[in-house]
Amino acid sequence: MISVQSICKTFSGQDGPVLENITFQIDDGQTLSIIGPSGCGKTTLLYILAGLIQPTSGQTTMTGPVHVNKIGQSAFVLQDFGLFPWKTVTQNIELGLKLKRVPPAIRKETVNRLLTDMGLPGMGARYPSQLSGGQKQRVAIARALATDPDILLMDEPFSSLDAMTREHLQNLMRDMWIKNRISYLIVTHSVEEAVFMGRRILILTGRPGRINAVVDNPNFAAPDFRLQPEFFESQKQVRLALEKSV
Ligand SMILES: Nc1ncnc2c1ncn2[C@@H]1O[C@H](COP(=O)(O)OP(=O)(O)OP(=O)(O)O)[C@@H](O)[C@H]1O
Ligand SMILES: [Mg+2]
Repeated sequence: MISVQSICKTFSGQDGPVLENITFQIDDGQTLSIIGPSGCGKTTLLYILAGLIQPTSGQTTMTGPVHVNKIGQSAFVLQDFGLFPWKTVTQNIELGLKLKRVPPAIRKETVNRLLTDMGLPGMGARYPSQLSGGQKQRVAIARALATDPDILLMDEPFSSLDAMTREHLQNLMRDMWIKNRISYLIVTHSVEEAVFMGRRILILTGRPGRINAVVDNPNFAAPDFRLQPEFFESQKQVRLALEKSV
C-alpha cells in the first residue's frame, strides 16, 4: 500500500505553495486517476512519489510489497515516450534490466514476453523512428514494466496520440491490469480516460493543488465499461467536481 500523508510542496523562489495537504492511499494492486487544471502540481506529485523530489512537508509511506521511494520499485511513463533513438526497441526495453545486471537469457525472455503482451511481436530490431506514436508509447510502457515495478506512475501517457490509438492503449493497459493487477497511478486531462482507467479518481483544485473530491468508480473494470451507465455517471461526478476546481 502507498500512503501519501499531508504532502505540501513549495519550490524555493516561488510565491506560495504548489501542493497543499495532499493525502490519499493506493492499496496493493489498485489504480488511481488524478485529474486537475494545468499547473496544479500533478507532475510534481508524481516526482515526489517516485522519490525524485522531496516534499516541503508531509510524507509518503509504503507497507507490504510496495516501496515506491526505492529506486527500481516505481517506474515512470512520460508523455514524450523518453525512448533512446539510437537504441533498438529491444535495447530500449531491456535498459533497466541491464542496469540491474539481469543475465542475457532472462532479459531476452522478458523482452519477448512484453513485446507479445504489447502487441509488438517481431519489432524488437526496429528503431523508434521506424514506429508509430502508439507503438512508441507501447515500447515505453514495456520498458517501464520490464523491471517488474510495484507501481507504474504514468504522466499523461496517451495525450499525444490520436483518439483511436489512445483508446486502444487504454484498453490494453486496463486488460493488463485485469490480468496482472499491477498498481498504477495515471495523471490525465481527459475525464473519459480518468474514469476508464481509475478505480478512484482524485480531482485536484487549481494552484495550489488541493484535493477537491474523490470519485469512487467501483465498476471501472467491468466488461464493455464504456457502454455502461456507470461510465457516464462517474464522468458526470468528475465533471461537476472539476467545475468547482478551476
Ligand atoms: N523545479 C521547479 N522549480 C520551480 N517551480 C516548479 C518546478 N517544477 C514545477 N514548478 C511549478 O509548479 C507548478 C506545478 O507544476 P506541475 O508541472 O506539477 O503542474 P501540472 O499539474 O503537472 O501541470 P500540467 O497539467 O500542465 O502538466 C507550476 O507552476 C510550475 O511552474
Ligand atoms: Mg504535468
